[in-house]
Amino acid sequence: MKTMLNVALPKGRLGEKVYDMFEKAGFECPSIKETNRKLIFENPEKGVRYFWVKPSDVAIYVERGAADIGVAGKDILLEYEPDIYELLDLGFGKCRMAVAAPNDFRDNPQQTLRVATKFSNIAKNYYASLGRDIDIIHLNGSIEIAPILGLSDVIVDIVETGTTLKENNLSVFETIVPISARFIANKASFKFKNEQITKIAQSLEQQIENI
Ligand code: PRP
Repeated sequence: MKTMLNVALPKGRLGEKVYDMFEKAGFECPSIKETNRKLIFENPEKGVRYFWVKPSDVAIYVERGAADIGVAGKDILLEYEPDIYELLDLGFGKCRMAVAAPNDFRDNPQQTLRVATKFSNIAKNYYASLGRDIDIIHLNGSIEIAPILGLSDVIVDIVETGTTLKENNLSVFETIVPISARFIANKASFKFKNEQITKIAQSLEQQIENI
């Protein structure tokens, strides 16, 4: 029997695109295209098993070996610093991590800055590098509301098109880091399933070049 390669796919449009790339790499699993509520799909002939997980959970599955490989956003890798191999920048799912605030915000460097974010570690590391005192307010979503209601001075969040900021009268003050989707592997899997993982990595690399 073939050893199964376990792949964690981020649920959503990005994940579907990623699956198509894995299919082109020779790891097809047609049942995944059936519309149902199943979360795990496998093709024993190709030795591959896919599962849909929340995008922010992919790295945990890979770090703990429940998945051998997966695709995760750089934002998640920077925030949680999972002990995995980052094999490839896929060059899509592009956005940036930025500091944003109400359009009329004026910073007072003498005062502790109140920062609302889902990405507490990224925010802490960023302001530590500037030597700035901050007060982190950890939120789980709709971060843009925080400075409008006076809960925070600024936010640290993902900006893609900028529409959410614009529609809430906020603007980017500083860009912290560019973000994109990364192909990641479990460290032990990379050693023991190296042939399959390398085959996929090479195919993905070629597919990106041809875009
Ligand atoms: C992200 C982010 C912003 C929005 C930015 O939220 O937190 O709210 O996308 O995109 P834009 O620049 O194209 O407007 P997401 O949709 O991931 O959901 P969330 O509220 O759970 O963070």
